[in-house]
This record gives sequence, C-alpha cells and structure tokens, in this order.
Amino acid sequence: MEYQVSARKHRPMIFEDVSGQPHVVRTLTNALTTGRTAHAYLFSGMRGVGKTTMARILAKALNCVQGPTAKLCLTCPSCVEIGRGSALDVMEIDGASSNSVDDVREMRETIKTAPARDRYRVYIIDEVHMLSTAAFNALNAIRFRRQSFRAVSTSRSAGSRDARSSTNSGEWRKVKG
Ligand SMILES: Nc1ncnc2c1ncn2[C@@H]1O[C@H](COP(=O)(O)OP(=O)(O)OP(=O)(O)O)[C@@H](O)[C@H]1O
Ligand SMILES: [Mg+2]
Ligand SMILES: [Zn+2]
Repeated sequence: MEYQVSARKHRPMIFEDVSGQPHVVRTLTNALTTGRTAHAYLFSGMRGVGKTTMARILAKALNCVQGPTAKLCLTCPSCVEIGRGSALDVMEIDGASSNSVDDVREMRETIKTAPARDRYRVYIIDEVHMLSTAAFNALNAIRFRRQSFRAVSTSRSAGSRDARSSTNSGEWRKVKG
C-alpha cells in the first residue's frame, strides 16, 4: 500500500482520475452539477487516499472559467494557476505549521473580502487535526455563509475532534474517503 502510493507518478488532475473514491466523486460532482456546493467540506480518511488531491480538484472545479463544473477545462488561467499553487484566491494552509489562533483570525478577516479574480475564495486547510485546540475552536466559530467563500479541510483522523466540530457548528459537510 505504502509502496503503491509513493510509486504513483501523477497527481490526479480531474475527478475521473481519482481512484477508489466513487462516492466522494459522486457527491462532489452532483453538488457542482446542481449548483449546490456546501460552504465548507471536511475530507477525512487515511494517509494518502487523496484528500489533498481532491481538495485541489474541487477548488479548480469551483473556479474554472467554464464552471462551477464537474468537467474542469484545465486550461483556463484559474485551472492552471490553482494547479500550480499560484492562484491569488485559492489559499492552501498547512495546518501543521499555520496552526495558531492568529492564522485562523487572518482567514476570518479574508472571508469578508471579495475574491480578487476568481468566483470563489477557497481556503484549503490541510491537516486540520494539527491545529492547536484554540485555533481549532476559532475555526469552528467561523460562519462560512459568504457566497463567494468556500472552505475545504483535510484530516487524517476521522476521530472525535472532527465529528464534534462538524456536528456542533453544522457547517462542515463531512466527506469520508
Ligand atoms: N484515490 C487516488 N487516486 C489516484 N491517485 C491518488 C489517490 N490518492 C492518492 N493518490 C496519489 O497519491 C499522492 C498523495 O495523495 P494526497 O496527498 O492527495 O493524499 P492525502 O490523503 O492528502 O494524504 P495525507 O493524509 O498524507 O495528507 C497524490 O499525489 C496522488 O498522486
Ligand atoms: Mg493531505
Ligand atoms: Zn478551467
């Protein structure tokens, strides 16, 4: 398993490339097709099942010039820049290093502002289980209601912390891979 993961050469670029997660793909593509994406998603699952990959594909799907769409074009400036990690409106936060309350506060302030170019400001908070308890609580206190904002988190532990937060705030749509 471990060998297989590290031996894979290419990071999947579109939903169809993500293997072994048909229910996640279906949930997300349905939401995109019907225009009913949630404000906040939490992808949980074991190491290397494609949580971060899926978060990036979702960011592209939301902001693709042809979108929001389940069939991302991969050639428009939004798709290309999100793929490169240089899109102004798609922030990727590494929960392991940006794990303080101040980091979350900064995000809360940004939510209030409109995107610079893309349709949505998307925050990908990777490894959300690495946030300090105070930062985690601050994150859960955020109301993600602004239409032009989407939050996507990944977490390796499908444990109590995630479950509690998502049921308490009612804000995170949980997707388990
Ligand atoms: N379901 C999948 N289909 C195809 N490739 C995958 C899949 N899952 C992972 N990969 C490959 O493995 C690499 C690591 O995946 P990714 O970083 O998205 O996993 P993760 O779930 O975020 O892991 P971690 O828990 O360590 O953060 C990707 O670059 C991708 O090439
Ligand atoms: Mg990851
Ligand atoms: Zn595109």
